[in-house]
Amino acid sequence: MASAPWDHPFQIPNKQHQTTCEVAMSTDEEQQHRLDSFRQAAGRFASGVTVVTTAYDDHVYGITATSFVSLSLNPLLVTVSINVNSPMLDEIRGSGVFAINVLANDQQHVSSYFARRGRGRSKGAFDEVEAHVETTGAPVVTGALSWFDCTVHTMLDGGDHTILVGEVKAAGGGTGEPLLYWSGNYRELGQEEQNAAEENALTDDIHRIADSLSVQLHMHGMSTAQLIEAQQAVEPEAAALAARDANDEQIAQLRALVEEAELHTGDAACFNPLSLEFHDRLGLLSGNPAIAAAVSALNRPRESRYAADTTSERASRAAGAHRWILEAIEARDEDAARRLMSEHLGTVAVGILH
Ligand SMILES: Cc1cc2nc3c(=O)[nH]c(=O)nc-3n(C[C@H](O)[C@H](O)[C@H](O)COP(=O)(O)O)c2cc1C
Repeated sequence: MASAPWDHPFQIPNKQHQTTCEVAMSTDEEQQHRLDSFRQAAGRFASGVTVVTTAYDDHVYGITATSFVSLSLNPLLVTVSINVNSPMLDEIRGSGVFAINVLANDQQHVSSYFARRGRGRSKGAFDEVEAHVETTGAPVVTGALSWFDCTVHTMLDGGDHTILVGEVKAAGGGTGEPLLYWSGNYRELGQEEQNAAEENALTDDIHRIADSLSVQLHMHGMSTAQLIEAQQAVEPEAAALAARDANDEQIAQLRALVEEAELHTGDAACFNPLSLEFHDRLGLLSGNPAIAAAVSALNRPRESRYAADTTSERASRAAGAHRWILEAIEARDEDAARRLMSEHLGTVAVGILH
């Protein structure tokens, strides 16, 4: 069988494993080979593209960098690695501030502008790129997807680069897609990835809302009976809306989830998370963020309750109910989906309350 290029990765030669059949390499060649292997391996890492900027004396400076890493939440720290030969480092030592600008997919020209030696140094303002000041005085590139405005926290030795650690004083940004860099070329997210990214962002937001709502409800104190009432108020409607609005791909994913859960009714540790995800997913498929967040928040106390109570008989009953609800959604039968969910919650409630 013909081998694909990635069957022979660019391995860093290991002397101990060299066979006598291999042509011996000179030290220089070996060094070069290691370097090429390193470059190729590093080039396989996909990243966003940033421009690091600072303002010092009467001028501004910027360079393109992909070595950005978000480092710490407490304190808020980021890092970026700058070549030791870049005059940028002295500028940053002088100013004590810098901004990291994450470029949007329509800003490839900005990346190219700042990737030419010395080009990023301008008197007063950048000649070809619009920027403004936020908090520290470092230029923030207008239209950047996001930005971090920093003071210098530390500068660390990193071989031929200096690792710049920044303490984030302000950060911001908007929506849009990122400019990407992979394997020596600029890239953009494909439409599929864009849709998925937007969907994931929405799901993340809903889960964040659900987290804080569930904490508030917990602190407020909510009885089991109230929890069940709340579930009865939102989940049947979520199922009905899913029957009305979910697209075919979403329904196929729901089916896969139900079928996966059916395989694990004998093992509560496996079944429970899949069962909870079914309820969570229905909330999301309702297409209504308020309902999705409420369903997800009400799922949180369920987690602990189910952990103690699930027998394989209960799991089989729940799996059967999930399948009926799924079939009603597949049939686009809103009334059946609403009714079946309500009945399912009623059965679960009897199990929990008695
Ligand atoms: C996509 C891309 C990523 C880069 N990432 C870095 C980086 O992380 N650190 C760095 O020092 N240089 C990086 N460079 C190179 C600098 O942008 C480039 O050498 C620039 O000319 C430096 O300007 P200066 O010599 O005026 O400092 C990158 C260049 C490109 C095109």
